[in-house]
Amino acid sequence: MDSDVLSPADAASGASAAGSPGASPALPRHQAPTDRPDAGHEWWRTAVIYQVYVRSFADADGDGTGDLAGVRARLPYLAALGVDALWFNPWYPSPLADGGYDVADYRAIHPMFGDLAEAEALIREAGELGIRTIIDIVPNHISHEHEWFQAALAAGPGSPERERFWFRPGRGEHGDQEPTDWVSSFQGSTWTRTTNPDGTPGEWYLHLFTPEQPDLNWNHPDVRAEHEDVLRFWFDRGVAGVRIDSAALPVKDEALPMLPVDPAPGQHPHVDRDEIHDIYRAWRAVADSYEQPRVLVGEVWLEDAARFARYLRPDEMHTAFNFDLMTQPWDAEAMRRSIRRTLAEHAPVGAPATWVLSNHDITRPVTRYGREDSGFAFDRKRFGTPTDLALGTRRARAAALLTAALPGCLYIYQGDELGLPEVELPREVIEDPMHFRSGGVDPGRDGCRVPLPWSGDGVSLGFGPDDAAEPWLPQPAAFAALAVERQEADASSMLALYRDALALRRDRDDLREGDLAWHELGADVIAFTRGGTVASITNLGGAPIALPDHRGVLLASSPLAAGMLPPDSTVWLAVEPAGDESA
Ligand code: NOJ
Repeated sequence: MDSDVLSPADAASGASAAGSPGASPALPRHQAPTDRPDAGHEWWRTAVIYQVYVRSFADADGDGTGDLAGVRARLPYLAALGVDALWFNPWYPSPLADGGYDVADYRAIHPMFGDLAEAEALIREAGELGIRTIIDIVPNHISHEHEWFQAALAAGPGSPERERFWFRPGRGEHGDQEPTDWVSSFQGSTWTRTTNPDGTPGEWYLHLFTPEQPDLNWNHPDVRAEHEDVLRFWFDRGVAGVRIDSAALPVKDEALPMLPVDPAPGQHPHVDRDEIHDIYRAWRAVADSYEQPRVLVGEVWLEDAARFARYLRPDEMHTAFNFDLMTQPWDAEAMRRSIRRTLAEHAPVGAPATWVLSNHDITRPVTRYGREDSGFAFDRKRFGTPTDLALGTRRARAAALLTAALPGCLYIYQGDELGLPEVELPREVIEDPMHFRSGGVDPGRDGCRVPLPWSGDGVSLGFGPDDAAEPWLPQPAAFAALAVERQEADASSMLALYRDALALRRDRDDLREGDLAWHELGADVIAFTRGGTVASITNLGGAPIALPDHRGVLLASSPLAAGMLPPDSTVWLAVEPAGDESA
């Protein structure tokens, strides 16, 4: 038996507001879990974090859009699910050119979601249930409606207001060519030309995403001071941490060169530049200045493991999303390799791994795993892809148990605990700029953002009150059978599986914190023990496999037949303590 043991201790040990629009007033602090004297030390190392896409979670006022009152009303549901923290996608005022990742004002709440007092009440009430709050911060860009950008447009070329962004004349005799050849993360151009007050064409400005999301200039002291003040604004309101959007992108090469063919690490003009780490060191100092330190979670998409790990050094972020597993196909070898790679890359910096099966940008797992191409890639999404949802659901159940048994922090995207599929929406209701900027080829990301079904009937399946407006994206009829109310009454539902898994993970120190040891049970099987006393076995092959000796079955993603684990299933077993030949 393979005894490749990795201890979580190895894997895991491991300003001024000048120029900012409105410095935060001093506030009395709420007694959030973050501030309680008994607050769990380094809770983020093993936390289960539930992602709330507010617009689609629950609609209390019946206008067809989710809101904070809806989340407050459903806090008991989240407590019963057994999560430790909520991560909210951007909830700020925004024209929603990119689902709220175009922030117009960091110190307020979008009126369609509620107001600041409601956010404070939500943070407090979640805290009373032992649930922490993480919010989204988007440093790379702001909304074109933000007062800074409006001031920059009005002030004109050469003004100090424009220095907070990347305004440049165009290339060529008439300045009609883009200043660089950089390619947008959403495909296409990264520059938009402005118009002068007299109607003549003016300077261009940089946007790595849509034109409604101008990039900020992180060499400017206002930009740094403003973000540090925004962090304090929310930390003072009891927020336990921030999820940092597009965290490898904010720093640019000031010379704005053309794209080099093969840039040295840290030298790409706008991705993962070496200087970026100063920003997060400064943020870490802000986070650490609180009696109960706040937490930084990075959205860092980088293939180079060593470069990724640099963001997790002890004086930078606490954790970062690990997207590698989610990009793998349903294949034991590929997934095992990804898990090993992830654990190995985190070990040297002492940061815990995170396990992410999906989020608001990614095709839902039950759909992905029901397709021939079961790994995820943004550029492979197409309308009309054949999908076997029964197969995908079986595999998503197995993946849920597999990831919940791994060492580190677990993310659950709202609706995955219900097994919701990706929805293929009619083109006319799609709002996502990824769809439009692909020329309509990519269905975009709205298919995983469809409002949740809470009951099996009513105009929006319980998303809103009975007399509510239609939900902002249409729910398919198949959502009725997946509604929370239906699943709560069914012990074999996806929701029941998630609740049972999270309860076991919370109760059992071995499962949550024990050393991981790999076990060899065949090429199509991913098997490991935690703490030597609980085994997780996932069968990705085509035939049932015999269970090893064990003391009892703790949980299984599919019914076991005659002591055999069926294909596309995971089982958790209680086993003899390490040293015995049990797992
Ligand atoms: C990553 C976010 O998850 C995504 O939804 C957004 O479009 C981009 N960053 C740009 O902010």
